[in-house]
This record gives sequence, structure tokens and C-alpha cells, in this order.
Amino acid sequence: MSLVYDVKELDFNYHLEGVQFKALKKISLEISAGEMITFAGPSGSGKSTLLNLLGLMEETSNDMIFYNGKCLGQLQEQDKNIIRRFDIGFIFQSFHLFPVLTTFENIEFFLIRQGVEESKRKELIQEALNVLGINDLKDKRPTQLSGGQRQRVAIARALAKRPKVIIADEPTASLDQKNGEAVVDHLFEINKKFGTTIIIASHDPMVLRHSQRIINLKDGEIQRQGL
Ligand SMILES: Nc1ncnc2c1ncn2[C@@H]1O[C@H](COP(=O)(O)OP(=O)(O)OP(=O)(O)O)[C@@H](O)[C@H]1O
Ligand SMILES: [Mg+2]
Repeated sequence: MSLVYDVKELDFNYHLEGVQFKALKKISLEISAGEMITFAGPSGSGKSTLLNLLGLMEETSNDMIFYNGKCLGQLQEQDKNIIRRFDIGFIFQSFHLFPVLTTFENIEFFLIRQGVEESKRKELIQEALNVLGINDLKDKRPTQLSGGQRQRVAIARALAKRPKVIIADEPTASLDQKNGEAVVDHLFEINKKFGTTIIIASHDPMVLRHSQRIINLKDGEIQRQGL
């Protein structure tokens, strides 16, 4: 199976008021296409930092992350933007939906940025609404939705892009058990149906129970690989 990510001894430091903080230390891992992988570990262990680096959300000039064989640190900004726009769907703990847009428009937003033409957009949005079971919510704005519904919209928005990779940072953290389980089920379904590589950060036991591969982080280091 082809490698989507190859990370080689990745270090990452935050600089705060002249003080350097080592958030990731010598992280090495490989993620294959179509895998579903969860990063676990206590608060502050580096999960979000790692996801942000993998998702090109955090700027880094280091040469330790290879995405589809390309060294991220060597790419031009426009090439990185293409990866962000077309390849990666990011799902945040607090949803990050646009408050003034309806469900339909929220999902449509990134497709417009991708330059997808209208009839194709409608098709992709309809399929995402169907997969997530939220067709009846398409004209509502985020404030009219529950937390579980908002997270489903956020997943639909990520899915409609047909990304190669979906990255989800604590996707169940703002949800109750029932909605959390539904979100995990949807991520599994997307992984199976579309072969999307799915990368999750979570310390939710329910997510971990369903995970095929768990990597535990502690103090910025990998603790134990596999189940
Ligand atoms: N912008 C930042 N500037 C400085 N330090 C940071 C910054 N972001 C995170 N850190 C520090 O880096 C470490 C790892 O943070 P990170 O957010 O990756 O942890 P996490 O595992 O996602 O935690 P949580 O489970 O609470 O979300 C923490 O000690 C945190 O304080
Ligand atoms: Mg985090």
C-alpha cells in the first residue's frame, strides 16, 4: 500500500517569549493510504501539534514530513495551498462552521474555492448530506443546530471536497456519547466507502475502542505503537 505520510524523527518547538518549548520529539511514523489511525495521549502530549503539522495548518520549515513522497519543508507556498485545498479535509473540535452560512452553503464554500462547477457541487453536497444523514438540515444555520448536528455538517463539509485525507482533532469532545458514536461511525463509513485516509486525535475511550491503530503520545514522544 502506498504511503501518504512518512515522518522521520520529527522535532517541533514552540517559541514563547524567547523560551523554546519542545512539543514533539523525534516522532517517526508511516501512514498508509486508506488507513484509519488515532493519536491518543493526555492533554498537552502533542496530538494537536502533530495533526496541525500533518494537515499543513502549522508552518514548519523542517524537512521531516513527507506527504505522498514530497518533503513539505521543500514545497513552495502555492504547492502547499493546493494540498490544503484539494487533499486535506480538517475537522475541528469546535466545528469552525461559518455562522452566517447555511449547512448547504458551509459545505459548498470549499468546493467553490476548489473551482468545482455548480452542478458538480450540488452532486457532491447531496452525497455528503446523504452519507451524514443531514439532508433535512441543509437550509439551517449553525446556531439552529445542536452540537452533534454541527459536527455532522463539519464532516460533510470535509467529505464533499473528496479529500485524500481527513484529519479530525477531538471530533467527539464537544458531543455526548450518542452523538460521539454517530460521528465515529460516520468517519468509519467514509473510510470504507471512499478509501479516505483518516487521522484522528482523541482521548475519548469510545473512539479508541473503535480504532484500528492507536499511537500513544506522551510529552511529545511516541509511547507505544499498534494495539
Ligand atoms: N501556540 C503554542 N505556543 C506555545 N506552546 C504551545 C502552543 N500550542 C501548544 N503548545 C504546547 O505544546 C504542548 C502540546 O500541545 P498540544 O495542543 O499539541 O497538545 P494536545 O495533546 O493536543 O492536548 P489536548 O488533549 O489538551 O488538546 C502543550 O504543552 C502546549 O502547552
Ligand atoms: Mg489538542
